[in-house]
Amino acid sequence: MNQDPLRPGSGRTSPGQDTRKSRTSSVTGMLLCAALFLTVILISLLVIAHRNNAEKGPEALTTPSVSDVASLPSGETSSTGQDPSSGSVTDSSAHGAETTPVPAGPAYDVVTLDNAQIHVGDLILVNADYEYVFPDSQPQTLLYGNRSKKVYLLSGSALSLNSALFPIFDGMICDFAAETGCTELLVTSCYRTYEFQEELYQSRVQSMGAEQAARYVALPGHSEHHTGLAVDMVIYTDGRQYYFSEYEAGAWLIENAPSYGFFQRYTAEKEPITHCAEEPWHYRYVGVPHARIITDSGMCYEEYVDYLHTFTWNGERLFCAPDGTLSVSGGESLPEAGWMIYCVPAGGGETTDVPVPPGLPYLISGDNVGGFIVTVTLG
Ligand code: DAL
Ligand code: ZN
Repeated sequence: MNQDPLRPGSGRTSPGQDTRKSRTSSVTGMLLCAALFLTVILISLLVIAHRNNAEKGPEALTTPSVSDVASLPSGETSSTGQDPSSGSVTDSSAHGAETTPVPAGPAYDVVTLDNAQIHVGDLILVNADYEYVFPDSQPQTLLYGNRSKKVYLLSGSALSLNSALFPIFDGMICDFAAETGCTELLVTSCYRTYEFQEELYQSRVQSMGAEQAARYVALPGHSEHHTGLAVDMVIYTDGRQYYFSEYEAGAWLIENAPSYGFFQRYTAEKEPITHCAEEPWHYRYVGVPHARIITDSGMCYEEYVDYLHTFTWNGERLFCAPDGTLSVSGGESLPEAGWMIYCVPAGGGETTDVPVPPGLPYLISGDNVGGFIVTVTLG
């Protein structure tokens, strides 16, 4: 059977044609092979370059978007860390050598703290579960003789506060007097020793029984008053004491205390968590912005510390704007003002490396639970 030589797949051609076509085909084939070879080489080089970039982690990235980070499953976020000392990325997840996208952040500095420091600072939680650890030295300032103005009353001459806190407290009460014209705010209790709390507790047990006493007086060693960061105060006028909510001028303190770093520690609705009855007189200092966040959110301090524990330096962090608005982000870009807050659990050894962003003012406080709370001032 004749086959059409021009048809593709034809096995036969005329002899002259055969030779020319055969040479042309060989050259074309060689060129195609060379092109194919070069293409394979090029693709391989591109794949290797891409892998190298991926292994370098966030340093190789330009500013990652917040949504990238926020969309990471939380398990991956928490299992991936950035080595604070080198700024390099390490993946401690169970996925072996697989590179996990990490929440990007600037190369953080490291502050190495003794783990005993978890019991020290403005943000320590002291309650029935977390006992206060008395330090060797605890500088206190007597209120009597040190008030900048005699515009508030003292129930005794031995009242004292944490020395660093005293000027903040004194400033708040002087502002209260100036703004309201009320000079009848009475300070009834500040710093307490273990022994004084013991006396107070036993006397309450005698008068109302152990169960009721525990609602109003903390067990010795478990009172916030040991810290020098708690103050009991009321309005004393016409021979009787008023809570701030019962006296017109008191509204100023209720509204403005958070701006000075104080909040009302024990409310009626949170008694199931705090195990303390409502105490409209007991204010605790935690600093700004924490007092504002606690007051606005309605959380009690136990809930707030639990909440803060969900934030990490290299995962999601809590941001508080100057107006108190909260947001959560793991992105690299920081707001221009406000505060950034995150926690660092204490390590198993004697010290813990606490990462802090370079060039920004920060405060590190123990939480008295198991780690540190970092508050960074932005802008
Ligand atoms: N009244 C509070 C609970 C204290 O004794 O510390
Ligand atoms: Zn108190």
